[in-house]
Amino acid sequence: MNDLTAIVESAKAAFGVAQAPADLENAKARFLGKSGQITELMKGMAALPVEDKKTRGAAINVAKQAIEAALNDRRQALADAELEIQLKAEALDVSLTGRRRGQGGLHPVSLTLERIEAIFGSMGFDVADGPEIETDWFNFTALNTPEDHPARSMHDTFYIEGGSTAAPNLLRTHTSPMQIRHAVQHVKKYSEVSNIDEGNGLFSGSMPEIRVIAPGRTYRVDSDATHSPMFHQCEGLWVGENISFKDLKYVFTDFCRTFFESEDLVLRFRPSFFPFTEPSAEVDIQFQEGPLAGKWLEVAGSGQVHPNVIRNMGLDPERYIGFAFGMGPDRLTMLRYGVNDLRLFFDGDIRFLSQFR
Ligand code: PHE
Repeated sequence: MNDLTAIVESAKAAFGVAQAPADLENAKARFLGKSGQITELMKGMAALPVEDKKTRGAAINVAKQAIEAALNDRRQALADAELEIQLKAEALDVSLTGRRRGQGGLHPVSLTLERIEAIFGSMGFDVADGPEIETDWFNFTALNTPEDHPARSMHDTFYIEGGSTAAPNLLRTHTSPMQIRHAVQHVKKYSEVSNIDEGNGLFSGSMPEIRVIAPGRTYRVDSDATHSPMFHQCEGLWVGENISFKDLKYVFTDFCRTFFESEDLVLRFRPSFFPFTEPSAEVDIQFQEGPLAGKWLEVAGSGQVHPNVIRNMGLDPERYIGFAFGMGPDRLTMLRYGVNDLRLFFDGDIRFLSQFR
């Protein structure tokens, strides 16, 4: 092996072990750089006799070209390897299933409220909405609730700023204030001055019946497996000239049977007391089948609207009469789906909520 062949071989070996472009360029400098081995041989040619210069020069050139070819091969190989790594890293597996967008759904209590609205809507009830921050007047006084009634106690109710010291505003403890708010609006719309009695200011003319439900959030200082400080109620009110307790029984029975899709559901109107109804009754229901069969379950308070409340609506109780009820949509939802802890509805755990989608 002559000296040129040896140089070419050692260049190839040096290029072969270079693992990165920078290593390769360093190796290149050792052979083709300013003081590289080939360059040094070229410089050495000056000392050769003229007749040797040609053959020697040609031989060095051949060696140089061989080294350059090896260098380019290695450069290409390193570039290919790098590209290969990059392609692998950025590989897209088109066979993977895509990421889905989370599918939303209505909250179980919202589903119940929609169902309540649909059923009462089919019976000709309007739906009314009102404020959750109430005045003492609408939440208590207008509803014939006396100053010393336990429902007005600090322990039962969230009082907040606003209103007067004697009668501060509060988070409504029930949806019953909507009885007054809605009826007053209704009466205002249909009353004529000539029908308002100058003595008592009450309306005794004729008007379309008041038939309304008012679902919404309500608040009490209460928290356990069946009570939450925020809960839902749905008020019902039907006032006309001839609306009696029998209409309440019919309407509420029909509602419950439709809601629970159970024709043999039994209802019991258990005598009770509310300041704003007289007589008053708690409504209990009893399933004939299923895990709750045979148990009485309380679902609502109800009664015939008290004459004082009719008066606070602006109506003459000599002409107008009706019934009201207030039920618990949270409770209805628990019964319908067999949920035993009310707090699950308000914890916001997606594993629970997604079951109702
Ligand atoms: N407001 C009563 C409660 O919260 C329920 C009720 C409404 C009772 C209407 C009678 C009439 O307990």
